[in-house]
Amino acid sequence: MISAVSVTMRYGEKTLFENVSVKFRAGNRYGLIGANGSGKSTFMKILSGQLEASSGEVALDTGCTMGFLRQDHNTFDHETVMNTVYQGNETLWKLHLEREHLYTAAELTPEEEERIGLIEEEFGEAGGYTMETDAAKMLDGLGLPEEQREDAMETLSAGLKLRVLLARVLFGKPDVLLLDEPTNHLDMTSRDWLENFLQQYTGTVIVISHDRFFLNAVPTHIADLDYQEIRMFNGNYDDSMTTNAMLMEKRSRENATKEKTHR
Ligand SMILES: Nc1ncnc2c1ncn2[C@@H]1O[C@H](COP(=O)(O)OP(=O)(O)OP(=O)(O)O)[C@@H](O)[C@H]1O
Ligand SMILES: [Mg+2]
Repeated sequence: MISAVSVTMRYGEKTLFENVSVKFRAGNRYGLIGANGSGKSTFMKILSGQLEASSGEVALDTGCTMGFLRQDHNTFDHETVMNTVYQGNETLWKLHLEREHLYTAAELTPEEEERIGLIEEEFGEAGGYTMETDAAKMLDGLGLPEEQREDAMETLSAGLKLRVLLARVLFGKPDVLLLDEPTNHLDMTSRDWLENFLQQYTGTVIVISHDRFFLNAVPTHIADLDYQEIRMFNGNYDDSMTTNAMLMEKRSRENATKEKTHR
């Protein structure tokens, strides 16, 4: 679980949100919505630790891993597509490199000889034997042409690069997955694939989107950033709109009654 505790964010005179306390629970999928410029991306950056809030805290359960789509799209320019995706799972990537070294080194130290006996089990448990097919499946789903899997990232178009970076985050299977408008650069087929992938995701997902179809298909909850606060609704986008409309109607009825009794 990840939570924000009394988080306030200001840029100069402008307050984006104030004293926001909200919990994102394990296994739920949250659609983070709000008007353009309301502060959704800023809030997500604060959750991920990329940005510090003016005040307040973010708490991530101990032992929980978090993954987010990186803003810096050129970090992996000299890596191949496949290696970029693999590195999304740090543990697996380290084991993979160690294993390569153990099997290709001309000479091994006695400690390394001993590691050979142990590494296969660790590698297998971390998903090492299916890493290639797993990564390929994701890249396929996200529409990266098969013949480009071994190409260097720098040779890819901006759109394809983003798809690989998305595959990289998903490959890490973090307990908390943060995605800021992931469907923007996807075509219909890839968007459907992502919807399906996220519907089956067992971790916590927080996703910013302006796409109503996506917001109806993926979230179990809607977090609405509006008037400097976040309101949480159960259900998908349409459910949240219905609940919101009912709340507004109830409020206006209550106000009308108040006015009557005051007369
Ligand atoms: N570094 C910064 N310095 C000053 N103002 C900033 C900074 N970053 C963002 N802002 C302002 O904060 C507000 C919220 O920006 P943010 O990108 O979080 O909104 P958003 O809800 O993600 O919008 P969109 O839906 O358009 O992506 C905007 O008015 C933006 O101009
Ligand atoms: Mg944004």
